[in-house]
Amino acid sequence: MNKKIKKILFKKNKTKIVCLTAYSKSIAKILDKFCDIVLVGDSMANVLYGLKNTHTLSLKNIIQHTLSVKKGISKSLLVVDMPKGTYQNVKIAKKNASLIKSLTKCDAVKIESNNKNFQIIKELVKSKIPVMGHIGYTPQFKKNFKIEGSTGEKLKKLNKEALKIERAGAFSLVLECVAPNASKTITKSLKIPTIGIGSSSYCDGQILVTDDMLGLSGFYPKFVKKYLDLNKMITKAVKRYTKEVRNNKFPKKNNFLNVTRIR
Ligand code: KIV
Repeated sequence: MNKKIKKILFKKNKTKIVCLTAYSKSIAKILDKFCDIVLVGDSMANVLYGLKNTHTLSLKNIIQHTLSVKKGISKSLLVVDMPKGTYQNVKIAKKNASLIKSLTKCDAVKIESNNKNFQIIKELVKSKIPVMGHIGYTPQFKKNFKIEGSTGEKLKKLNKEALKIERAGAFSLVLECVAPNASKTITKSLKIPTIGIGSSSYCDGQILVTDDMLGLSGFYPKFVKKYLDLNKMITKAVKRYTKEVRNNKFPKKNNFLNVTRIR
């Protein structure tokens, strides 16, 4: 087993697992200093490409961004989302996951559960492609952004789905918008770590979309904590630059090259 994955598994019931998303080398390089897992999420469809959902993101898009992210990663576990429509059966999933892994040298792929695709996880793991699962609100399969597993019956169903994913061989499981009670039960019943997003502190780790926590994405689900208001900071800098260019305050001597000074 990949050493980095072993390290993640070892953290269960010991230390919380820190995860964030990255779509480029510059952000990945910063995250790599702190995170256990960096995810090249298909959330880039909304956040970067301005699409209304993740459904049309291509394999080529995710591979290109992963190639960039990989350049910034030296120690974190690099996980890549498989876009919708790239794993609809075992044959297609194996072909596309192998392509992602061989081209990008990532550590693992993430696939969203539709409560049916357990065999796909099993076959990917069998062919030495580690898989992170994803249950609860799964944007590739569900329309409505809502809390999952909130009643007794729904909790039971979600726990069953989680156990099937573990049995299929996934090394970890994202719980998105899962009710606190359900996150607690699922985290307790699994041997693999759970990674929560909007799913309470019972999970073994947490993930957020980096652009959300930095205040740059413009769409903030209720559970997001903004650690920075980057939108405000960039606006301020661009405003100042605009003013200085218009008032001929920029560039000054230091900001352009001439024959006697090139550095
Ligand atoms: O695409 C993504 O960023 C994700 C995380 C929200 C878990 O799947």
